[in-house]
Amino acid sequence: MIVLPTPENLQIAAHLLKKEEVVVFPTETVYGLGGLARSDKAVTKIYETKGRPSYNPLIVHVDSLSQAKKIGVFDALTEKIVSFFWPGPLTVVVPLHPEANLSSLATAGLTTVAIRFSAHPLLLSLLRLLKEPLVAPSANPSGFLTSTTASHVHQAFPSVYILDGGPTPKGLESTILSVDEGIVKLLRPGIISQEEIENKTNLSVYFVQPTEKISSPGQTLSHYAPSLPLRLNVEEPHKKEAFLGFGKTNPAPTLNLSPSGSLEEAAHNLFSFLHALDNPALYSGIAVAPIPQQGVGFAINDRLQRASFSSSL
Ligand code: TXA
Ligand code: MG
Repeated sequence: MIVLPTPENLQIAAHLLKKEEVVVFPTETVYGLGGLARSDKAVTKIYETKGRPSYNPLIVHVDSLSQAKKIGVFDALTEKIVSFFWPGPLTVVVPLHPEANLSSLATAGLTTVAIRFSAHPLLLSLLRLLKEPLVAPSANPSGFLTSTTASHVHQAFPSVYILDGGPTPKGLESTILSVDEGIVKLLRPGIISQEEIENKTNLSVYFVQPTEKISSPGQTLSHYAPSLPLRLNVEEPHKKEAFLGFGKTNPAPTLNLSPSGSLEEAAHNLFSFLHALDNPALYSGIAVAPIPQQGVGFAINDRLQRASFSSSL
């Protein structure tokens, strides 16, 4: 059920959450399927609804740094990093606080926890009504395209209560970092680029290659996939393929992620255009033009590579 985010509907959403039900809300990155972080019942419902493997932990969403510090242990370096980007599209993985009082299902039994303080006003209003943290993975069936509109979510989960905040502004998931013995690790490239983190914080950031030890289960090679096969770095699409362009693309693309060549615009459009083109009645596959490997282009290419992985088997 899709509803507008009126004050009354926010109250209804908060009421459902307090009853340990799940609710969908927007964040500035993508839509999240949320439930009370302390509730085994809500967390189980989230995993079941998504068809998500139980070993893949969830992000805890908070409304302040002080709430974050009740859930995770922040060292000086992590606190410095979040001071530049919170509230915003950054998630940090930190040691779990001994008194965090979270459902152990939410953290998949790990001794660390992923925490995010989003700036989205709707989510913040909801968190402030509840006065306690919410866990929320992206609101899509596990392994499939991420939802950036309420209607994407509704197609996948028609019976869930969805607060419609319009298309999410950024369109791509948060960047995930952890600090390990003084080393800043990029666990998932996201809407805040590695360059931006390095420039703002003056720290070096190391990307953990997906082929190395998997410290973020969402780094599994196949993820974010449409139902049609996906080909990347294509200059010449096949006749029956949909062509997803970027910048000046010849031949004319079916859809263009950003005619002007803006990577931010491309990130915003990525999942909604993949949703739109993922139509086996019209196309045999989706061919994507080359996207520059810089700034947020790195995260766009990361998602596209994982989305194409099963197509390349
Ligand atoms: O933008 C976002 O981050 C969205 C919005 C809704 O906040 N959320 C999101 O959640 O993308 P999800 O569940 O789709 O991805 C969370 C990622 C997963 O890859 C998970 O493995 C990783 O975070 N993660 C969670 N806890 C972790 C931990 N303790 N250590 C390493 N990775 C962790
Ligand atoms: Mg996801």
